[in-house]
Amino acid sequence: LTRERYSVRRLPFSVVSEDDLAALERIVPGRVITDPEELEAPNVDWLRTVRGSSKVLLRPRTSQEVAHILRYCHERNLAVSPQGGNTGMVGGSTPVFDEIIVSTALMNQIVSFHNVSGVLVCQAGCVLEELSRYVEERGFVVPLDLGAKGSCHIGGNVATNAGGLRLLRYGSLRGTVLGLEVVLADGTILNCLTSLRKDNTGYDLKQLFIGSEGTLGVITAVSILCPPKPSAVNVAFLGCPGFAEVLQTFCTCRGMLGEILSAFEFMDAECMKLVGLHLHLACPVQESPFYVLIETSGSGAGHDAEKLSGFLEQVLGSGLVTDGTLATDQRRIKMLWALRERITEALSRDGYVYKYDLSLPLDRLYDLVSDLRARLGLHAKHVVGYGHLGDGNLHLNVTAEAFSPSLLGTLEPYVYEWTARQRGSVSAEHGLGFKKKDVLGYSKPPEALQLMQQLKALLDPKGILNPYKTLPTRT
Ligand code: FAD
Ligand code: MLT
Ligand code: ZN
Repeated sequence: LTRERYSVRRLPFSVVSEDDLAALERIVPGRVITDPEELEAPNVDWLRTVRGSSKVLLRPRTSQEVAHILRYCHERNLAVSPQGGNTGMVGGSTPVFDEIIVSTALMNQIVSFHNVSGVLVCQAGCVLEELSRYVEERGFVVPLDLGAKGSCHIGGNVATNAGGLRLLRYGSLRGTVLGLEVVLADGTILNCLTSLRKDNTGYDLKQLFIGSEGTLGVITAVSILCPPKPSAVNVAFLGCPGFAEVLQTFCTCRGMLGEILSAFEFMDAECMKLVGLHLHLACPVQESPFYVLIETSGSGAGHDAEKLSGFLEQVLGSGLVTDGTLATDQRRIKMLWALRERITEALSRDGYVYKYDLSLPLDRLYDLVSDLRARLGLHAKHVVGYGHLGDGNLHLNVTAEAFSPSLLGTLEPYVYEWTARQRGSVSAEHGLGFKKKDVLGYSKPPEALQLMQQLKALLDPKGILNPYKTLPTRT
């Protein structure tokens, strides 16, 4: 849990003084946290791989308070680390040194919901699962879902451009987020919180902040388009004999389920072993080298069931699938989803986790997992592959008893070079944060990197917003 593992030096920001604490206390009275015990959790990331040493956490309630905080920090040259649910996978949400943590935990108000258009406007600190519940009671769904829903904030989701389990159906947040309110580094409030589907007036500035991981501004409110809640949902959990069959099942599925397909996820046998071992979840089908989870969402239960049974007959009959189970009731649907959603948790209980989140061409998606398994042999505890197959997104994870520089040396830059050769992405959905900032160059040309640095300098000339994150260390 040390930063020494990564070579990084503190930049010459000011150090928080007693006078600063008094000034911050005037901005957010009673919500300046300096108790070391309370600061323990927000200084450590979800994976417990990085630790900061911040001595101050602020809990603003309004955009105006965030603006006052940033105006003050900008003037005093104090660095800030924005934090939502602290579920990020790349060490982006925790301070690196003594940055002030600005938490959105108390910014959890729903501003409005329009029950014809489905447009939800809310503060950035709303927890995803709570938003889900709110709109579902009104006949809609949030177009985003992920395993961290119980803790992650919508602002954090937008800041990371989180992908998740519904992207196949509803697309990326770059399409469903209609507007944002953002506080810039100097405290300026940028109000682009519109709810329009179409708006081609000038540059689409909100896109700059989606996926910017707290380095360009603090997102304070979000306007998001929620689709109607599907009335018929089915989940099929299937076993496949090989990865070629997984791909064939995906092709067949797209052909036969077309417009009702809402998720296509996969996991390998090692993942299933780990969710069994660490979470005591039972495999619902015969043991197989691969498993796929297919979800359909539609408006006619009878129509969807008919389509699904035709599809199952086809894949079982042709040997693409060797065993399967189907769920139509909420409880069983949840149980099947848990097998896939809780892999992250099972892995974290297995030891130190080296995480890779790659976009790769579908036909090569699993090659790297097999390759690494052979390459690492007994040096790794487990090498697993799972992910959002329907989006071409592989989660390649390697576990070991503890962090080891030599294992890291075997994995990197090998994994990144392999990915770059396939013209893939070294971060499909988790972002770069602190841990991946220096690998951006594997997926973007130098001209793109330079423009990113220029945008950063324009929007945050003093570099106080989430320093040491996202952009490569300048040498
Ligand atoms: P945090 O972790 O607090 O912050 C993440 C980044 O955003 C940091 O750089 C932080 O500085 C910045 N940030 C946070 N809030 C703001 C704000 N208001 N303004 C500006 N910057 C801000 N990710 C996926 O993409 N798909 C998945 O399927 C997925 N599944 C997950 C499952 C589990 C079990 C876990 C633990 C994580 C998963 N993640 C997934 C990763 C993570 O949940 C997402 O990245 C999530 O969107 C982060 O939200 P958060 O509120 O926890 O943000
Ligand atoms: C997932 O799809 O489960 C998440 O992105 C988290 C992870 O990669 O472990
Ligand atoms: Zn994922």
